[in-house]
Amino acid sequence: MPELDPRILAFYGQGREAGRLRGDVPSGPLEFARTQELILRFLPPGPLRIADIGGAAGIYAGWLAGLGHSVQLVDPVPLHVEQATADHPGVRATVGDARALDQPSDSFDVVLLMGPLYHLVDRDGRGQALHEALRILRSGGWVFAAGIARFAAVMDLLVRLDRLHEPEVLRAVEDAVATGVLEDAPMFTTAYFHLPQDLVDEVADAGFQNPRIFSVEGPGFLVSDFESRWADPQRREAILAAARLMESEPSALAAASHLFVAAQAPG
Ligand SMILES: C[S@@+](CC[C@H](N)C(=O)[O-])C[C@H]1O[C@@H](n2cnc3c(N)ncnc32)[C@H](O)[C@@H]1O
Repeated sequence: MPELDPRILAFYGQGREAGRLRGDVPSGPLEFARTQELILRFLPPGPLRIADIGGAAGIYAGWLAGLGHSVQLVDPVPLHVEQATADHPGVRATVGDARALDQPSDSFDVVLLMGPLYHLVDRDGRGQALHEALRILRSGGWVFAAGIARFAAVMDLLVRLDRLHEPEVLRAVEDAVATGVLEDAPMFTTAYFHLPQDLVDEVADAGFQNPRIFSVEGPGFLVSDFESRWADPQRREAILAAARLMESEPSALAAASHLFVAAQAPG
């Protein structure tokens, strides 16, 4: 298995990922709802063989298994694999790395790659992960890949978290805007922040066809009183409507938090 940056292992070893999309991070439920919506827009009729690469504690894998699909989760963090196995009995979970998968070629209808592309800081590593996704997919199969957008941290740290004035934070974010690479930032771990077109190009260069890119959260991740607004059905609908209104206009993608790409293997 390729070596994982020890800072990534230590960060996720804290066990905080299991609750992130359930509300431990305020806009997590928005990210989850919109990613589910985008997946369902493209998911072919099932039952399907789905690989969730970088699936963490299994929130998407468990949901998809509950819909009747056969789901294999792969993650390099042993704690995530233990959590996914304990919390989602319908999911097969194993330790592994997106860059060198144990799964046989041509063995899945759908691959989720929602995590590895924003933790692999060099383009070769991201290319390997995409090539491995393509290898294990059947011809015509779908990949759903996530990225973090280049300016997400600037907006989140200024507007919502109010930490951009901290010199150490500002320095890390300035470097990330210049290079895409976030390192030694106190609030996250080693990460790569994509410009939208670069993510599309990486997916296409790996051999996938017709990649389509979307903003996942739209502007809703910046809402300061997110929990109370999300709890109100009308305001929740407005947050979702705003995300849909800004999901695919290229100039609006620059203001995204997470990016979602759907693309197909040739054939
Ligand atoms: C923020 S979590 C996302 C989890 C989930 N897929 C989601 O979208 O909410 C990022 C995940 O990517 C995993 N990851 C990081 N580097 C990876 C790699 N080289 N191969 C596979 N997974 C990796 C981490 O262990 C973590 O579970």
